[in-house]
Amino acid sequence: MKTIIEPFRIKVVEPIRLTTPEERRGLLAKAGWNLFALHADDVIIDLLTDSGTSAMSAEQWAAVMRGDESYAGSPSFYRFEAAVRELMPFRHVIPAHQGRAAEAILFSIVGGPGKVIPSNTHFDTTRGNIEATGATAVDLVIGEAHDFESPHPFKGNMDLARLERLLSEQGEHVPIVMLTVTNNAGGGQPVSLASIRSTAEIARRHGKPLIIDGCRFAENAWFVKCREPGQSGRSVKDIVRDMFAVADGMTMSAKKDAFANIGGWLALNDEKLAAAARNRLILTEGFPTYGGLAGRDLDAIAVGLGEIVDEQYLRYRVRTNEYIGEKLTALGVPIVRPVGGHAVFVDARRFLPQIPPLQYPGQSLAVALYESGGIRSCEIGTVMFGLKPDGSEVPAEMDLVRLAMPRRVYTQSHADYLVEVFEEVAGRRERLKGLRIVSQPRQLRHFTARFEPLA
Ligand SMILES: Cc1ncc(COP(=O)(O)O)c(C=O)c1O
Repeated sequence: MKTIIEPFRIKVVEPIRLTTPEERRGLLAKAGWNLFALHADDVIIDLLTDSGTSAMSAEQWAAVMRGDESYAGSPSFYRFEAAVRELMPFRHVIPAHQGRAAEAILFSIVGGPGKVIPSNTHFDTTRGNIEATGATAVDLVIGEAHDFESPHPFKGNMDLARLERLLSEQGEHVPIVMLTVTNNAGGGQPVSLASIRSTAEIARRHGKPLIIDGCRFAENAWFVKCREPGQSGRSVKDIVRDMFAVADGMTMSAKKDAFANIGGWLALNDEKLAAAARNRLILTEGFPTYGGLAGRDLDAIAVGLGEIVDEQYLRYRVRTNEYIGEKLTALGVPIVRPVGGHAVFVDARRFLPQIPPLQYPGQSLAVALYESGGIRSCEIGTVMFGLKPDGSEVPAEMDLVRLAMPRRVYTQSHADYLVEVFEEVAGRRERLKGLRIVSQPRQLRHFTARFEPLA
């Protein structure tokens, strides 16, 4: 088979400042060995997140110029609404400035003390917004999701038996059922159409609305097309429509599968819920035809939604991560398999067995990748999850490093460079040491903690 090339040409470029390892050692010390504290200009390849980091197309930039900034009834809103409803046929589409704003509005209405909200795996902002209302967020993903080696094609699937049990035993406390596609907190793993339909069927039987967190809906649909029996001959667009046809609403961050740098929405079928959401929106985000966004942002999203379901793009997108995954595996770097849609996850605990979890093997690997090659990645492990509300510290379930791919930003030679940097780090892996934390906040410490390498 021929190389799957980037299905785009480059018209506008952003220079990358090429730093030296010596310079980067100084920058790391200044940043307290926390990659969030680096200036982005000092990063060669930035794989911190795929959120809001997409390159917009010429058509999106043209749409930005068409954006209409009327306070109420902007044509940009109607173009945005039509583009959403072309894929996700919900009756009410309510814009918000990002995904977590849509979540905050939804849970301010359906959450509250004593409520229980299940999902395959809640993303951290979703969990945060649920818990902020006093409700409990419950993760019910299938067991295979926790096995990095399991080749299960849909490791994001809901454990249907556990969902059924939860609804039978505690149904009166459950206001909605959620489902995250793809399952970001579980490694960007997809959810099958069959699992989405079964989840919807169980929710409906118990009288509960199903709300899909659809941030990476197009990547999910591509996996359905490639992996689910009977789906290969269908268009991604049709699969997307099927995914949402059985749901009662969705939350969305347009910073992912809408190619936008900002934005999101809450979509609902229920009239009463939508009216309550719009009232809340007016309090916190803005009038319902702009919801915290500029008209030009709504237009960029509208065009992005048309582009994201392009199958040439999705083939290249998913292949990029597979390519990196294959090369890392050949180097003996343990990764979570199969690779997800938006990122490659490296098992730092297995890669650096000499570093105990409480000396942060994920942070050590992330720091080494920056030092060797100027690559910024993200620790997802004991630094992120190890600090408990009572101030105690325990090892997280796993210590991973996430290499998240911005959309349409990097080329294959950037991927090859990343692999070369890993090769260099793998060559000195036995000599890598852990770190200790010298200062940290009480919550979400990964963003601002300062570290010191252990001697
Ligand atoms: C699955 C999922 N849900 C919700 C969000 C929140 O979106 P935002 O960053 O736009 O607030 C994210 C962001 O990473 C996500 O990945």
